Amino acid sequence: MKELAITRFTQIYGHAPAVLARAPGRIEFIGNHTDYNGGTVLGAAIDLGVWVAAAPAPAGLLHFATESQRGIVTVPVSAAGKQVGAQRWVNYPLGVWTSFREFGWRQPDGLEYLVCSDLPVGAGLSSSAAIELASALAYLGLTGGNPAREEIVKLGRHAENNFVGVPCGILDQGVSGFGRKNHLVFIDCRGPRFETVPMPAGAHFWVFNTHTKHALIDGLYAARHRECMEAARGLGVALLADLTPAQLEQKRALLPEVNYRRAKHVIEEIDRVARVQVALASGDLASVGRLLTASHRSSQTQFENSTPELDFLVETLSETPHVYGARLTGGGFGGAVMAFTDAEFSASGAAQVADAYAFRFGSRPDVLHCETGDGAARVDF
Ligand code: GLA
Repeated sequence: MKELAITRFTQIYGHAPAVLARAPGRIEFIGNHTDYNGGTVLGAAIDLGVWVAAAPAPAGLLHFATESQRGIVTVPVSAAGKQVGAQRWVNYPLGVWTSFREFGWRQPDGLEYLVCSDLPVGAGLSSSAAIELASALAYLGLTGGNPAREEIVKLGRHAENNFVGVPCGILDQGVSGFGRKNHLVFIDCRGPRFETVPMPAGAHFWVFNTHTKHALIDGLYAARHRECMEAARGLGVALLADLTPAQLEQKRALLPEVNYRRAKHVIEEIDRVARVQVALASGDLASVGRLLTASHRSSQTQFENSTPELDFLVETLSETPHVYGARLTGGGFGGAVMAFTDAEFSASGAAQVADAYAFRFGSRPDVLHCETGDGAARVDF
């Protein structure tokens, strides 16, 4: 990927890039829709990600190219608003560029930019956060800025919330920023506070990408966000993380049925994250697996962010030897299922699951055996 980024940049702009940065995608291990509710979450950076190559350009023009589309999108600095149509992808690097000013950081005043990626888009592995962090690091390489990593992570989320317009939490940017090989990232989202936790030896991640994506995905995510905020207001707390499962049950009558179920998912999920931490610490991976699968069931029945395709994969994986547990990973409404397995689970076991899915739905999911990886960084070349 590194060579490809340099070669393609040179072909497009006629000279080598000045800086190169890479940021990984992530797996949401457990902690579904807990982040923007002030809760906790565990994720892992993976060894697939996005690469951004950039160079300064004469002031006033920002040039963006991507390996996956032909042509250059040129945005004048004087009209750097939100893009529509086929060039909508530019909103990620442009949102980061705009956010630099809002954070009081020096912006590159002219830019040549290329992004390329080995991360599947739309798989729930958070290619958007990876683009945001790699872009931020590349711009900082051009301007010489050196803010704390936590600030770069917050800026990525700010761009997504305020420019792209998705009311996401800090999970994706936090894991992409603080990931570490052979580790999980724990985030207490209220701080936010970031920690790494060793990945249990011999445990593996497999991702099954269904390539399904609900047409209204952004609207559905925003609707869940709204329902959670309404539920917190109805319960008289600032954020759902302020309540325990028992307290929610005591106050249940205060909420309409739908908002109660949304709150139940989030509050019990925060409890599951804590129980997964305990089980991880004692090496009880069977219990970790049961909690992952319980998280999925709650998505299915309480939060309603699963789909028949994701449910089928989780059911099939639950009955497959060497699988501790499985759940949808990320926002939901399509995307991917993550399986947490022992070292004996193999490509042929994964292929059997994919075959069963193909028989049922007529198309094959992509199977990725993901390694954990390091967080976002500038890359020397
Ligand atoms: C998406 C968002 C995250 C988080 C997850 C669900 O990945 O970007 O902030 O809310 O969904 O847990």
